[in-house]
Amino acid sequence: MGASTGDVRRIAVSTGGGDCPGLNAVIRAVVKTAIGVYGWEVLGIESGFDGLLGRYGARVRPLTAESVRGILPLGGTILGTSNRGNPFAMPTETGEPIDRSPEVVNRIRELEIDALVTIGGDGSMRIASQLLELGINLVGVPKTIDNDLAATDVTFGYDSALHVATDAIDRLHTTAESHNRVMVVEVMGRDAGWIALEAGIAGGADVILIPEIPYRIDAVASALINRARAGRKFSIVVVSEGAVPEGGAQVYQEERHGAPGARRLGGICIQVAEDIALATGAETRAVVLGHLQRGGSPSPFDRTLGTRFGAAAVHLIARGGYGRMVALRGRDIVDVSIADAIARPKLVDPNGEMVQAARSVGISFGT
Ligand code: F6P
Repeated sequence: MGASTGDVRRIAVSTGGGDCPGLNAVIRAVVKTAIGVYGWEVLGIESGFDGLLGRYGARVRPLTAESVRGILPLGGTILGTSNRGNPFAMPTETGEPIDRSPEVVNRIRELEIDALVTIGGDGSMRIASQLLELGINLVGVPKTIDNDLAATDVTFGYDSALHVATDAIDRLHTTAESHNRVMVVEVMGRDAGWIALEAGIAGGADVILIPEIPYRIDAVASALINRARAGRKFSIVVVSEGAVPEGGAQVYQEERHGAPGARRLGGICIQVAEDIALATGAETRAVVLGHLQRGGSPSPFDRTLGTRFGAAAVHLIARGGYGRMVALRGRDIVDVSIADAIARPKLVDPNGEMVQAARSVGISFGT
């Protein structure tokens, strides 16, 4: 490696971690900017870093203006992605992870890749900082529907997920009202309650439960009973997958196969719905939105942000800004060190303005 500004001839781009709407907008912008502005070649690494290791048939392929034609409105990623392909701790059949990073570094050298654009969430940015230490030139582009990266005001993918979740809440309103039911809808977000909070406010939820504010079921029940006494015979409860009852624990689906320690959140809405039924006598139903929130066409905001991030990442390489990640601050695209970007997650402030606004309009957080 050792390419410095001006030495770049060939770059590569990868998408890692869970997919989200807007990834293709970034890939397209990276390819168009690298080729159109700088005359560089671009390679696409398939399935996170798997393409560099040939895992599961994943490979590295050239990306041209033709390869990215028409992908702006497409959800997912044309390169594929993986959240089980950390080269520093690659899952194996024995269950004992192995370090395959030397092979990744060798392959990058063999392919004469001068710099990488790593598009990913906190997990991918952690891998990126380890690769940097091994001498790989790279820049980061933050993505996740969870919006839990502190270094950027917002990640692309989040806005599209909010649209899906808000639309679902709107739809649940009509059926809840028709049947006089309490509908409990679970949204994603891991340890951050952003999707639940913003979709809950936008969808006019009556109760929002988020990981940052442990709830008491008696407080949830009294909010719903008060509503019923006021003549509202139906209610909408939005629960973040990582929400916790006071003194309780998060609900997980299963141990993730082949990735010891990584577990999938999910299913708390069923517990909450049962607890509400017991405490209030109301008829309840539970809905898990799950991966619907990650699918489909990116919103205009995410297409634009993805395009701005992709172009900015290529300009960052041209300036030799390795080890940095593009970010949104206010209305501006800036860059921050990847190490700082992963230092702490961005969580909802339980006493912040957005929670206060929700409380002001009568939304209960189960406290
Ligand atoms: O981080 C994005 C996210 O969608 C989380 O909100 C969710 O907990 C997780 O990924 C689901 O991961 P998987 O795609 O492995 O089920």
